[in-house]
Amino acid sequence: MPLVNTKEMLMKAYAGGYAVGAFNVNNMEMIQGIVSAAIEERAPLILQVSNGARKYANPIYLKALVESAVKESNLPIALHLDHGDTYELCVSAIDDGFTSVMIDASHHSFEENIRITRKVVEYAHPRNVTVEAELGRLAGIEDGIYVSENDSAFTDPSQVEEFVERTGVDSLAIAIGTSHGVYKFKGEPKLRFDILEEVARRLPNFPIVLHGASSVLSEYVDIIQNNGGDLVGAKGVPEEMLRKAAKMAVCKINIDSDLRMAFTAAIRKYLMENPSHFDPRQYLAPARESVKQLVKHKIRNVLGCNNKI
Ligand code: G3H
Ligand code: 13P
Ligand code: ZN
Repeated sequence: MPLVNTKEMLMKAYAGGYAVGAFNVNNMEMIQGIVSAAIEERAPLILQVSNGARKYANPIYLKALVESAVKESNLPIALHLDHGDTYELCVSAIDDGFTSVMIDASHHSFEENIRITRKVVEYAHPRNVTVEAELGRLAGIEDGIYVSENDSAFTDPSQVEEFVERTGVDSLAIAIGTSHGVYKFKGEPKLRFDILEEVARRLPNFPIVLHGASSVLSEYVDIIQNNGGDLVGAKGVPEEMLRKAAKMAVCKINIDSDLRMAFTAAIRKYLMENPSHFDPRQYLAPARESVKQLVKHKIRNVLGCNNKI
């Protein structure tokens, strides 16, 4: 099966009351861990690549790795550009064979966001590529750009119909209190489900995307803490909130930090327990397995997209 765009998988997720996992990838072991979990769980899958990942690994390498995964798995897999911040970057990803792109022009004015997003849609749709856009701004760090809590902004539901109608976008990322990275909440975790409900009411049958949706699981925080790391105060989105969102209009849930933590926890533990080992395969194999087990857990217990092929 060739790479697919996200149209059909997100519509099915909407109808089925579950979400598809969009996992950020940067290297071979991450891709292998994620894909082997999806194979075992019979789950649709979005592998997403940020601009930072493109710079780190070279898009040609990542594309080849993802294509190998597609061949091996026979699963519907979409290759998605995460947080494309310019029209040119989206075009370059589409020309490289990505089947889905995010144009994140949410830092611009409403009118400018519409103009740039519309332009990306006009390039993408004739090439059978789906487009995600964003309204509202998440706090946290993306591609080295830090958005402070004060500069973050919840999505205004009164803007969503006009935005979707004028841009022709296929899915919409909204800001309801999640943020990127591992320090998401100072106090109790809280998401604005009222905003999500109102957006869903105004956009019937339209897939919503949740960024910054890692849960920062305590088992990985503890392993990292106990093996020389420092993640004091790390806090993520509780899994029950994500399950609730997945049953509502949220059809794509973005996960990066949890993968990083599962990978790093396994490496830290391995190296502490085996101080004389230095063959990267020795510590990358458990890291890959750790990612696989995390993704299986997400698919089954958080996203609900197991056996949805
Ligand atoms: O939303 C941001 C993703 O976690 C990607 O992070 O820009 O460090 O690759 P990155
Ligand atoms: P996390 O940092 O919560 O994993 O968010 C990832 C994300 O939104 C990628 O676009
Ligand atoms: Zn994001």
